[in-house]
Amino acid sequence: MTIRPLVILPDPLLRIVSDVVANADGATKALIDDMFETMYDAPGVGLAAVQVGVTTRIVTMDASRGDDEKQPLALINPEIIWSSDALNEYEEGCLSIPEFYGVVTRPTKVGVRFLDLDGKVLEREMDGLAATVIQHEIDHLNGKLFIDHLSRLKRERVIKKFQKQARREGGE
Ligand code: NI
Repeated sequence: MTIRPLVILPDPLLRIVSDVVANADGATKALIDDMFETMYDAPGVGLAAVQVGVTTRIVTMDASRGDDEKQPLALINPEIIWSSDALNEYEEGCLSIPEFYGVVTRPTKVGVRFLDLDGKVLEREMDGLAATVIQHEIDHLNGKLFIDHLSRLKRERVIKKFQKQARREGGE
Protein backbone atom coordinates (compact mmCIF):
# COMPACT_ATOMS: atom_id res chain seq x y z
CA MET A 1 0.00 0.00 0.00
CA THR A 2 1.24 3.44 -0.91
CA ILE A 3 0.25 6.93 0.05
CA ARG A 4 -0.42 8.67 -3.26
CA PRO A 5 0.02 12.43 -3.81
CA LEU A 6 -3.22 14.40 -3.63
CA VAL A 7 -4.55 16.45 -6.52
CA ILE A 8 -5.01 20.02 -5.27
CA LEU A 9 -7.18 22.92 -6.48
CA PRO A 10 -6.98 24.44 -9.16
CA ASP A 11 -5.78 21.25 -10.92
CA PRO A 12 -8.15 20.80 -13.91
CA LEU A 13 -8.34 17.05 -13.16
CA LEU A 14 -10.78 17.95 -10.38
CA ARG A 15 -13.29 19.10 -13.03
CA ILE A 16 -13.21 15.86 -15.05
CA VAL A 17 -16.23 13.54 -15.00
CA SER A 18 -14.82 10.16 -13.96
CA ASP A 19 -15.40 7.00 -15.99
CA VAL A 20 -17.57 4.08 -14.94
CA VAL A 21 -15.51 1.06 -13.80
CA ALA A 22 -16.36 -1.73 -16.24
CA ASN A 23 -14.41 -4.51 -14.54
CA ALA A 24 -12.94 -4.36 -11.08
CA ASP A 25 -9.58 -6.13 -11.27
CA GLY A 26 -6.29 -6.34 -9.39
CA ALA A 27 -5.44 -2.77 -10.28
CA THR A 28 -8.79 -1.62 -8.83
CA LYS A 29 -8.03 -3.48 -5.59
CA ALA A 30 -4.53 -1.93 -5.41
CA LEU A 31 -5.97 1.54 -6.09
CA ILE A 32 -8.56 1.11 -3.32
CA ASP A 33 -5.85 -0.03 -0.86
CA ASP A 34 -3.78 3.04 -1.72
CA MET A 35 -6.84 5.31 -1.43
CA PHE A 36 -7.54 4.03 2.10
CA GLU A 37 -3.92 4.54 3.08
CA THR A 38 -3.89 8.05 1.59
CA MET A 39 -7.24 8.94 3.18
CA TYR A 40 -6.34 7.71 6.70
CA ASP A 41 -2.93 9.36 6.49
CA ALA A 42 -4.34 12.79 5.54
CA PRO A 43 -6.52 12.26 7.67
CA GLY A 44 -9.83 12.45 5.84
CA VAL A 45 -13.25 10.80 6.01
CA GLY A 46 -13.68 10.29 2.27
CA LEU A 47 -11.68 10.21 -0.94
CA ALA A 48 -12.56 9.97 -4.62
CA ALA A 49 -10.10 8.30 -7.04
CA VAL A 50 -9.75 11.53 -9.03
CA GLN A 51 -8.16 13.08 -5.94
CA VAL A 52 -5.19 10.74 -6.44
CA GLY A 53 -5.25 11.38 -10.19
CA VAL A 54 -7.28 8.38 -11.36
CA THR A 55 -10.49 9.41 -13.14
CA THR A 56 -12.62 6.34 -12.42
CA ARG A 57 -15.75 6.13 -10.30
CA ILE A 58 -14.30 4.83 -7.05
CA VAL A 59 -14.80 6.23 -3.55
CA THR A 60 -13.35 5.24 -0.18
CA MET A 61 -14.88 6.50 3.03
CA ASP A 62 -14.96 5.99 6.79
CA ALA A 63 -17.54 7.98 8.71
CA SER A 64 -16.74 6.43 12.11
CA ARG A 65 -16.08 8.94 14.86
CA GLY A 66 -13.13 9.37 17.19
CA ASP A 67 -12.13 6.16 18.92
CA ASP A 68 -15.03 4.12 17.47
CA GLU A 69 -14.12 1.05 15.48
CA LYS A 70 -13.08 1.93 11.93
CA GLN A 71 -15.70 1.47 9.20
CA PRO A 72 -13.80 1.43 5.91
CA LEU A 73 -16.12 1.29 2.93
CA ALA A 74 -15.08 1.19 -0.74
CA LEU A 75 -17.73 1.99 -3.34
CA ILE A 76 -17.38 1.32 -7.05
CA ASN A 77 -19.71 3.23 -9.41
CA PRO A 78 -21.74 4.67 -6.51
CA GLU A 79 -25.04 6.41 -7.27
CA ILE A 80 -27.62 8.16 -5.13
CA ILE A 81 -30.93 6.36 -5.74
CA TRP A 82 -33.08 8.46 -3.42
CA SER A 83 -32.62 11.35 -1.03
CA SER A 84 -34.67 12.70 1.86
CA ASP A 85 -36.57 15.97 1.67
CA ALA A 86 -35.07 16.84 5.04
CA LEU A 87 -31.86 18.82 4.73
CA ASN A 88 -28.80 19.00 6.91
CA GLU A 89 -26.08 21.63 7.19
CA TYR A 90 -22.55 20.45 7.65
CA GLU A 91 -19.24 22.30 7.64
CA GLU A 92 -17.30 20.54 4.90
CA GLY A 93 -13.68 20.46 3.94
CA CYS A 94 -11.82 18.64 1.17
CA LEU A 95 -8.36 17.08 0.95
CA SER A 96 -8.02 18.79 -2.45
CA ILE A 97 -8.75 22.22 -0.90
CA PRO A 98 -6.63 22.06 2.27
CA GLU A 99 -7.51 24.21 5.27
CA PHE A 100 -10.65 25.69 3.75
CA TYR A 101 -14.09 24.96 5.17
CA GLY A 102 -17.63 25.97 4.30
CA VAL A 103 -21.16 25.10 5.34
CA VAL A 104 -23.04 23.05 2.73
CA THR A 105 -26.71 22.07 2.79
CA ARG A 106 -27.54 18.58 1.51
CA PRO A 107 -30.23 15.92 2.06
CA THR A 108 -29.96 14.35 5.54
CA LYS A 109 -30.47 10.78 4.29
CA VAL A 110 -29.67 9.11 1.00
CA GLY A 111 -29.91 5.67 -0.54
CA VAL A 112 -26.72 4.61 -2.30
CA ARG A 113 -26.26 1.82 -4.82
CA PHE A 114 -22.74 0.65 -5.65
CA LEU A 115 -20.60 -2.35 -6.51
CA ASP A 116 -18.15 -4.01 -4.18
CA LEU A 117 -14.86 -5.50 -5.35
CA ASP A 118 -16.56 -8.79 -6.22
CA GLY A 119 -18.91 -6.96 -8.56
CA LYS A 120 -21.85 -7.49 -6.23
CA VAL A 121 -24.54 -4.77 -6.31
CA LEU A 122 -25.16 -3.38 -2.83
CA GLU A 123 -27.57 -0.78 -1.51
CA ARG A 124 -27.14 1.16 1.66
CA GLU A 125 -29.04 3.86 3.50
CA MET A 126 -26.75 6.56 4.86
CA ASP A 127 -27.47 9.44 7.19
CA GLY A 128 -25.57 12.00 9.24
CA LEU A 129 -21.88 12.33 8.43
CA ALA A 130 -21.92 9.30 6.08
CA ALA A 131 -24.66 10.91 3.96
CA THR A 132 -22.69 14.13 3.70
CA VAL A 133 -19.48 12.30 2.82
CA ILE A 134 -20.95 10.12 0.07
CA GLN A 135 -22.72 13.10 -1.54
CA HIS A 136 -19.48 15.11 -1.42
CA GLU A 137 -17.52 12.22 -2.97
CA ILE A 138 -20.06 11.50 -5.72
CA ASP A 139 -19.85 15.19 -6.58
CA HIS A 140 -16.10 14.63 -7.12
CA LEU A 141 -16.87 11.82 -9.59
CA ASN A 142 -18.93 14.36 -11.53
CA GLY A 143 -16.23 17.04 -11.53
CA LYS A 144 -17.99 19.00 -8.83
CA LEU A 145 -16.49 20.41 -5.63
CA PHE A 146 -18.10 21.43 -2.34
CA ILE A 147 -17.14 25.05 -3.04
CA ASP A 148 -19.63 24.92 -5.94
CA HIS A 149 -22.35 24.81 -3.26
CA LEU A 150 -21.11 28.06 -1.66
CA SER A 151 -21.78 31.62 -2.80
CA ARG A 152 -20.01 32.75 -5.94
CA LEU A 153 -18.02 35.28 -3.96
CA LYS A 154 -16.68 32.68 -1.51
CA ARG A 155 -15.94 30.24 -4.32
CA GLU A 156 -14.04 32.77 -6.42
CA ARG A 157 -12.07 33.93 -3.41
CA VAL A 158 -10.84 30.43 -2.54
CA ILE A 159 -10.06 29.56 -6.17
CA LYS A 160 -7.98 32.73 -6.48
CA LYS A 161 -6.12 31.92 -3.29
CA PHE A 162 -5.21 28.44 -4.55
CA GLN A 163 -4.27 29.77 -7.99
CA LYS A 164 -1.83 32.16 -6.36
CA GLN A 165 -0.42 29.39 -4.20
CA ALA A 166 0.05 27.13 -7.23
CA ARG A 167 1.87 29.92 -9.08
CA ARG A 168 4.16 30.47 -6.12
CA GLU A 169 4.95 26.78 -5.93
CA GLY A 170 5.55 26.79 -9.67
CA GLY A 171 8.47 29.12 -8.95
CA GLU A 172 7.04 32.36 -10.36
NI1 NI B 1 -13.41 16.45 -1.38
